[in-house]
This record gives sequence, C-alpha cells and structure tokens, in this order.
Amino acid sequence: MSRIDDLVSKMTLDEKIGQLVMRALGAGTIVTGPDAAAEPSVDDVRQGRVGSILNLVGRDRILALQKIAVEESRLGIPLLVGLDVIHGYLTDAPVPLAEAAAFRPDLWEATARMAAEEAAEDGVALTFAPMLDLARDPRWGRMVEGPGEDPYVGRLMAAAKVAGFQGADLTRPEAIAATAKHFVGYGAVNAGREYASVDLSERTLHEFYLPAFKAAVEAGTLAIMPAFHDIAGRPMTGDKPLLTDLVRDTWGFEGIYVSDYDAIGELVAHGVAADMAEAAAIGLTAGMDIDMMSPAYRDGLRPAIERGLVSVDLLDAAVRRVLAAKQRLGLFEAPYARGTIVVARPREERRALVRAAGAAACVLLKNESEVLPIGPTGGPIALIGPFGTTTREMIGAWYGLGDREEAVTIKAGIEAAFPGRTLLVAEGVSGLGGATDGIAAAVAVANEAEVVLMAVGEAAELSGEAASRTQPGFTGKQAELVRAVMATGKPVVLLLVCGRPLIETEIIEAAAAVLVIWHPGSEGGAAVAEVVTGRRPPSGKLPVSWPRHLGQVPVFYNERPTGRPYADGEFFVTKYIDAPNDPLYPFGHGLSYTTFELGVPEVDRAVFKPDQPVTVTARLANTGDLTADTTVFLFLRDCVASTARPILELKRFATLTLEPGEETVVHFTLATADFECLGPDLTPCAEPGDFELSVGFSADRKALQTTKVTLVS
Ligand code: GLC
Repeated sequence: MSRIDDLVSKMTLDEKIGQLVMRALGAGTIVTGPDAAAEPSVDDVRQGRVGSILNLVGRDRILALQKIAVEESRLGIPLLVGLDVIHGYLTDAPVPLAEAAAFRPDLWEATARMAAEEAAEDGVALTFAPMLDLARDPRWGRMVEGPGEDPYVGRLMAAAKVAGFQGADLTRPEAIAATAKHFVGYGAVNAGREYASVDLSERTLHEFYLPAFKAAVEAGTLAIMPAFHDIAGRPMTGDKPLLTDLVRDTWGFEGIYVSDYDAIGELVAHGVAADMAEAAAIGLTAGMDIDMMSPAYRDGLRPAIERGLVSVDLLDAAVRRVLAAKQRLGLFEAPYARGTIVVARPREERRALVRAAGAAACVLLKNESEVLPIGPTGGPIALIGPFGTTTREMIGAWYGLGDREEAVTIKAGIEAAFPGRTLLVAEGVSGLGGATDGIAAAVAVANEAEVVLMAVGEAAELSGEAASRTQPGFTGKQAELVRAVMATGKPVVLLLVCGRPLIETEIIEAAAAVLVIWHPGSEGGAAVAEVVTGRRPPSGKLPVSWPRHLGQVPVFYNERPTGRPYADGEFFVTKYIDAPNDPLYPFGHGLSYTTFELGVPEVDRAVFKPDQPVTVTARLANTGDLTADTTVFLFLRDCVASTARPILELKRFATLTLEPGEETVVHFTLATADFECLGPDLTPCAEPGDFELSVGFSADRKALQTTKVTLVS
C-alpha cells in the first residue's frame, strides 16, 4: 500500500479536513488579507487541524511548527509552508512588470531561482507566484505583479518562473513549489477596480488570459491559485468547468488548487452560498484543495458532508492531492531540509543579479538632444524629487523580507557612479503629501545644476493589491514640483518610479528625457546609475501600452481591426474626436543610446503546408557608436479567418547585443501551431490563407517591416 493510501485509510474526518486548511499561524506572520476569524493555535497543528501555513517568516519559527506537525501529531504529516515570494525574498529583483520589460526569459528564471534559494533556506516550500494575470488597465494596482498585456510574454514568463522556482527536482532543498495565480482574467476587473466582477467573452478568455496558465501547467507548476473575482457571475473559486473540466481533465493538471485569501468563505459574499457548508461544498466540488484562511473547510466541510452536499470520496480525492504535493516536495523524507540546509549563493552574487535585472528593466521612453547618458565629468547634477533617497520605492510591492536588506537608493547609486561630480539633492515634495514649501529650495538646486534628474512617480504603497486608482499618475504635489523645475530651463530627466504606466502626457512631452525605472529592486539605485551613466545602455521595452489619456483605457496593441479601421482623414472610422487612438507609447517601445536598423523580413518559403516550419530572417545593424542590447519582435497577422483576428499578435522576440557598426541576421522559426487561431468552437486550427509577418522594435505598426506567407491545405 502506498504512503498516501495508508495515510488516507488511517485519517479521521477531522484530520482529512485539516489537510485542506491553510492558516497564518504564530507570531511574526505577515498580514496579506482581511482579519481572519478565530486565530488558530499551535495545538491545531498538533491535532492535525491545520495542514498548511502561510505568511510565517523566520526559519526557527517555521522549523518549530514543522517539528510539532511531524513529531507530535498522530500521523506526523509535515506542513506545507507557503509565502508570497513574488520578486525576491531577501534580495529583491525589480517588480514583475519591470522584469517583463527586460524581455529576457533567462533573467526571469534566474531571479526566481535565486529567490527560491533564499526562501527555501528559511524553510519556505511554496511561493504564491508567478502572478500571470495579463493587464490592459493601469487603474488596476496589480498590473505591477504581472507580465503585462501580451499572452506570448505571459506564456514565457510562466515557463521561466516555474522552472526557476521549482528547478528540475522539486524534492531538492533549494527548490520551492510555484503557484500560478490568479486564475483567471483578474486583470480585466470592471473599470480597473480591485476585486470587481469580470465580464469576458469565452474567446478573449481562451485567446488572451488562459495561455499563460496553460504554460504554467505544462511547465509543471505544483499549484494554481484561483482569483477572487467572478466571471459572468461564476466565482473562480467555485468554477468547476474551468478548474476541473478544463485545467485538470483537459490540460492534465495534477497539482493542487490553493484558494486565495478567504476566497472560499467569500462565496457567501458573492451570493452563491448561503453559509459556510454550502461554500465548502461548492469549493470542493469545483476542485479546490486548500482553503487559505477562510472558515469554510474548517467549519463547513463536516456539516456539508452530513447534509449530503458533498461526498467523503470528493474529500479523499482532495486530501490525496495535497498529500501527493507534499510528497512531490520531498517533505515526508526530509521535512526539515528547507530551513536547515544553506543553499543560497553568496550575497554579492545575488546583488549583482538583481542589479543586472534592474538595469535591463529600465525603459527609455525619450531622450531629446541625447541628454542621456550623463558623463563622468561636468557641472553639478541635481537629484530632485521624493524618491531619490528612499529605499521603499526601490523594492516596490510584495517585497518579501527585502526591507531587511538595505536597498541602494538612487542617490547612493549616482554618488557611487560619479565620485567626481557634485550631486545636489532636494526632495521638493513628499511622494504623497500636499506640502509645497520645499519646491522653492528644489528650484534653487536645479538652477545650480548642469542637468536635473527627477526621481518622481508613484509611491510603492500605491500599487499592488487593493490599490486601484482612478487617476494613475503622479501622486501628491509632484506634478507641481516637476513643472517648477522645468521652468528653470535646465534639461530635465524624469526617472519614473512606478508600478504601472503613469498617465502624465503633458509633463512627459515637456521633459528632455524620460527613463521608466519602475521599482527596480534591492540594487535599484545602482542599476539606474548604470543606465544613466551609459555603462549599461537602456534596453527595456514596454510590456504594456502607455496610455496618452485615461479615456483610452483599456488600450492595447493586439486589438481586432473592426469593420471601420482607423484611417487618417476619414470620418466614419473607429476613432475619438478629442484624441488619437494610439497610446502615448506602444507595447514594446524602448529607446537605446545607440540606433538600430532592421531590414525587410525574408522567409524560406512564401507558401507552406501544415507541419512545414517557416523561417523568418531579417538583417539587424547597430548603426550607432555604442555597444547595446535591443529586442526584435516578430508579429503575425491572420489576414482572413473564420473570426476577426487581432491586427498584430506577438509570436517571437529576441534580445541581442551588437557592437557599434555590427550587423547580424535575426532568425525566427515558426511552426504551424504559431499560425493557429481558435476556430468558431474555440479549438485551435490553422486555417489556410494569407498571413502577414512583421518585424520591428515595438508594436508601432507604422515602423514595422512586413512580408506575407500563405498557408495552403
Ligand atoms: C492575497 C493575494 C494573493 C496572495 C495571498 C496570500 O490576498 O491576493 O496574491 O498570494 O493573499 O498572501
């Protein structure tokens, strides 16, 4: 008899329910949700009433609790220890949206691997990451946590992060289980308002929002976390057609569902359950395995079984999945390995990695008269704004324990990079406050400087969960500060600290240069200094469209053409009468300190049959005088299909480093699957016909180089 069969055969009903209960327990827990009913006790672990814990930090505390579960409970089943290790544990990488801007799957995997080592060393076995929610609406604060607006980027991010966290062998002490979250479509909450309902067509759900989660399942994610919201009235936590029929039965997911914080119990608030017994029954029937923080399973499963709402068989199936997950983590054989074995690499190596990631994430939106890079000699540099000297804005939302390590401020980074130049610093205004009495001093500092760097944008606490904003722009009196400093006539470089696009079109258009630094991580100031000084020329590209006006939202590159596509000068076309359709900057936009040129794409076959690959090549040249990286995108358009297709679909990208004057040929190979769309029945099919293949440095259609291929049956 297998271990799991043996355990299940011995477990009481309460012990079975206990394996499905995840609680924040003990002193030192991080709070990530509303107050929970009835604080659990250590004895709940001893009695087998809690099978998983979250948000407890500190290896001694975790090990103490694990020992109670293993050595003092009746069956000795180890605890599953979960935490939000989103973009770092002690050493923070840039926030996920910033990492997406690097377009570097190798980097995405490397930072996840580093975070896994740090967290596992402290006893964590499961992270509630990667967050894979595509987002097209910067009003939604959680855009910062995800891969941006594109499904292909979402798929690659999913695969990279699951591989990074889990490694090749999940039993290894340096590996932690991934949780693909928040399943699914959370980024499409109505009006960008947190936790609001979602209304999506089946097609949009399957074409845009599900692929990243499918990629996570294919990469072997141990867990999936359904989201809080409902889609068309069906709360995700009770959505059996998606959770079980699609993900388990069709995709073959064999891992566990961990609810979001209190989400099963919140089925009552959704109005689909009358009490906790019904909520528990709906969750268990849908396929939910672990109930995070709600009383539903703890208090509702026994009455649900007694009332015949669910069967013990269904309960046993969930218990088996949870035990199998613990077994896949090696917890039965080595329950104390995580938390006792040193696995994290040397600190400087970790800091170097996140410094490189922070630099790769920076996106240069504009650089008039090449005010950047700033040279090592010259007159004073002014650093003005509320975020030039703060560490909190470097590590952003969901920083884990990153606040316990001193993050490098922008001031420290610039000072270290330019020991020979005078740096004048003035805060001007605070990030959130209304006081403006510091603006005069800031203007005075600007007047003494040769160039002004302004560290402005969005306070870190304003993005992340429960942080939707109706006006995603500068906070407090920062706009007033920027205008006052610009009025001095000095060249102003905006260093935008943010977790989402900030809609500040007038100010951005007035600045000489704008570098989006996001929340760049524990080495943030050093990373920014490397970009500002030109040691690492900027190579980041926007993972989301940057709106010109809030009224455009949601604005995204991969929209469908409509029957009246926009055309200059035409009246009856899709348009606004008070603004252009295009965002201020398109998906993929990002400048360098050098220039690159891309030739017209060529294909190895203009006509191809199913299962014949198509290779696309294009000449790429560095036509400037600096070695730099750039990213080349390959987009596809299905010209005629059984349903209207997006005007562009990202199918590949490649990031390359070229020396000044260097030329190379970029190669992309497409399989027939890359030409597939979802047919009228939402099953993938490659429909014969013409396809445009375009290469470019962003989704700006006016700048793309295009060729055409034809699929024949
Ligand atoms: C929060 C978040 C989720 C997180 C969980 C545990 O409410 O929605 O992303 O993983 O609770 O902290």
